[in-house]
Amino acid sequence: MTTPIALRFAETDLDAIATATGRVAVFVGPNAKLGPSARRVNRLTKGAVARYVESEAFEKAKEGTAHVLSWPAGMAADAVDVVKLSRRPSQADARKAGAALAKVLGKGGALIAADGHKAAADIAFGVAMRAYAFDTYKTGDKTAPGEVTMMATNPEALAAEAGPMAAVAEGVFFTRDLVSEPANILTTDDFAARLAAMQELGLEVEILEEADLEKLGMRTLLAVGQGSESPSKVVVMQWNGGGDEAPFALVGKGVVFDTGGISIKPAGGMEDMTMDMGGAGVVSGVMRTLALRKAKANVVGLVGLVENMPDGKAQRPGDVVTSMKGDTVEVINTDAEGRLVLADVLWYAQERFKPTGMIDLATLTGAIIIGLGHEMAGVFSNDDDLCNAFLKAAAAEGEGAWRMPLSPAYDELIKSQIADIKNTGGRGAGSITAAQFLQRFVKEDCPWIHLDIAGVASVKSETALAPKGATGWGVMALDRLIRDRYEG
Ligand code: BES
Ligand code: ZN
Ligand code: MN
Repeated sequence: MTTPIALRFAETDLDAIATATGRVAVFVGPNAKLGPSARRVNRLTKGAVARYVESEAFEKAKEGTAHVLSWPAGMAADAVDVVKLSRRPSQADARKAGAALAKVLGKGGALIAADGHKAAADIAFGVAMRAYAFDTYKTGDKTAPGEVTMMATNPEALAAEAGPMAAVAEGVFFTRDLVSEPANILTTDDFAARLAAMQELGLEVEILEEADLEKLGMRTLLAVGQGSESPSKVVVMQWNGGGDEAPFALVGKGVVFDTGGISIKPAGGMEDMTMDMGGAGVVSGVMRTLALRKAKANVVGLVGLVENMPDGKAQRPGDVVTSMKGDTVEVINTDAEGRLVLADVLWYAQERFKPTGMIDLATLTGAIIIGLGHEMAGVFSNDDDLCNAFLKAAAAEGEGAWRMPLSPAYDELIKSQIADIKNTGGRGAGSITAAQFLQRFVKEDCPWIHLDIAGVASVKSETALAPKGATGWGVMALDRLIRDRYEG
């Protein structure tokens, strides 16, 4: 796994600015008024900061962006980063500012002079989020960044504010690590073991093995994994921080690798399907965050861990399987496996936990990438209230999410000739027919959201808070939803 950067908080020491090595960062609001640290840098550099903030370049600079003064005279540092940031920035801008600093962070580390900035904790969070790198399999020179010290007027208060944020960052990193791991390492066994290890944090973790799933009748899930050497599993993680009320349920698709099975995918890009456990990764990351920050809510996370491989024992197109619910499914395309996995886990979650609401996450369809690209996840829901609360949380955290329709009109497309339902519709509305399929396994009185994260779980170019690769999309939004809706 990846070690997060070392970030510590210290009391402002203006004299440390001259002697700090690595980088020094200061913040200046759009009014160009210099705070104590910026003033000190300005004095040491004989007016370089003032010249910059009086320039057109500063006027044109966007909030949350940094300007670099390289090899400044009068200072030991290699560079000064002058960040344009209001005294009361939006959370997104403050995090962006931190991310901008993390992006240029080198081995020499950095001294971030936040003075009394209101958004110092958000800046620190942005630094941590963007400084993440998955370098487990890089031998040779790993470019681990040096220590980051954030100087503030009240470092104790800042550390207290940053604490819960660190829990969120750790959850996000857990998700990113899981999504980044290759399938020869992150097998279903390995995944389950990593989740079982979270018992140390106070989570109750149970692993249902194939024999258990067989007994429960989870035939649609088992059918997906039957061509793999890795045993299928369902892992149940319970966080009980909210007394004896019924829990909220999070359900994730954990396909550790998806070749398509007998309906095999083309070779080009198949390697990307190591991220097909992204939904389960987000559920796991959120559960980790809840445990780390000791959330005052009851949440249960369930993940269906399987591998979809072609094999003599693999399921075939045309097979008919019976779900735990009892509905029969004609498997038209073995590559539409995610919905088969989720059908059983969704049903099990409701039967066992009677949750007050349920959100599933899955890298479910390529079609959602056609519709929304890599900017937004597809949101499907049977409950406006829950859905709006989620959309609000996602917007507040800067995680793109867009509501898509559900309608019985689409059910026509997944009617089967010989079974109750088939697992694919036609070419049109591929993400919606997948969601309609899932809805069949959601009880009418259960408020539910399906998040299709195929486009956002892992991306080929960097985002505001993540380098290219696994993003951890959804951990922040779901943690906030739980905080705002179910705690206090
Ligand atoms: N895991 C894929 C969906 C996916 C595609 C995730 C691209 C991430 C990036 C899913 O199992 C799948 O193969 N879906 C098929 C469904 C089709 C056969 C109806 C698809 O989208 O092509
Ligand atoms: Zn898949
Ligand atoms: Mn597939």
